[in-house]
Amino acid sequence: MKLSRRQFGTTAAGAALALAYGKPGWAQSPLIIKYSHVVANDTPKGKGSLKFKELAEQYTGGKVKIEIYPNSSLYKDKEEIEALQLGSVQMLGPSTAKFAPLGAKEFEALDLPWLFKDDATYDKAMKGELGTWLFKKLESKGITGLAYWDNGFHMVSANRPLLATADFQGLKIRISGSKVADRYFRDLGSIPQIMAFSEVYQALQTGVVDGCENTPSNYVTQKFHEVQKHITVSYHAHLQYAVIVNSKFWNGMPADIRTQVDKAMNEATDYTNSIAQKENEDALAEIKKSGKTELHYLTPEQRKTWQTAMAPTYQWAKGRVGQEVLDVVAKQLDIKMN
Ligand code: LMR
Repeated sequence: MKLSRRQFGTTAAGAALALAYGKPGWAQSPLIIKYSHVVANDTPKGKGSLKFKELAEQYTGGKVKIEIYPNSSLYKDKEEIEALQLGSVQMLGPSTAKFAPLGAKEFEALDLPWLFKDDATYDKAMKGELGTWLFKKLESKGITGLAYWDNGFHMVSANRPLLATADFQGLKIRISGSKVADRYFRDLGSIPQIMAFSEVYQALQTGVVDGCENTPSNYVTQKFHEVQKHITVSYHAHLQYAVIVNSKFWNGMPADIRTQVDKAMNEATDYTNSIAQKENEDALAEIKKSGKTELHYLTPEQRKTWQTAMAPTYQWAKGRVGQEVLDVVAKQLDIKMN
């Protein structure tokens, strides 16, 4: 069906939307924003998304309707990135480890092991020059970055205890997409495999992969801990999301509505980042209580051994993410990178 200009309204923004999408959904009132993500509702990102929906609909007086699609119910990892670029979905909250298909490998610098010493350090960095610098990299791709959402630090698991670096030898470990993660697991002697989040549980259960890394909230909501006998609470790398929108869509929205949606996003971001740590602590307590897996904690000596084994990733990353972003990271965190 061909849509007339009238169906999109007579404003320039309406015309832009009509041109960009040519789909009936965009002509309708309320304006629909589809927000796809891959995790459960009962996680920091899931809760943050629902908070955003509540606030955006409230602040726009119902002129905007946010449709949240959790749990890969609309798209899986790679598909959702493509769908955003095509304009079939308007908003996503992917882990920044999945940004290479957007042509923004620089984001993988955030996956460097042992980079952020705690959540507060991470939060400050993303609110500072580092966060702004990275979002600029998306502009030429037709993507606008709205916010960074926190989900704490990765643990790592398998069906054997992972304490010495030798324990990783030959293990097939699922990773979410970052080549930096690929590299640090290779440094440990394991064989990383990129796989969509929605496929991990089954892959662990059937032995397609031996192990994985993720945060406590993702382990518990996906039941990974029920199919992994041992989890090391290593917190070796950080998991963060960038909430991103299709720029054509975002810029085509009437300015007054965009302002309200932006306000809702800012508040939902504060909310998400304020609950992330506690949500993950609670999830870890739940995993422990379930008795379905054994939790292990590294001694300072063991941690040092892991850090030494993974150190070559930093040198290697120069060729992958580029020196420029590493300089921004080093300056922001006030650290030296060799
Ligand atoms: C993963 O694929 O492991 C994560 O990116 C999932 C998520 O969005 O937290």
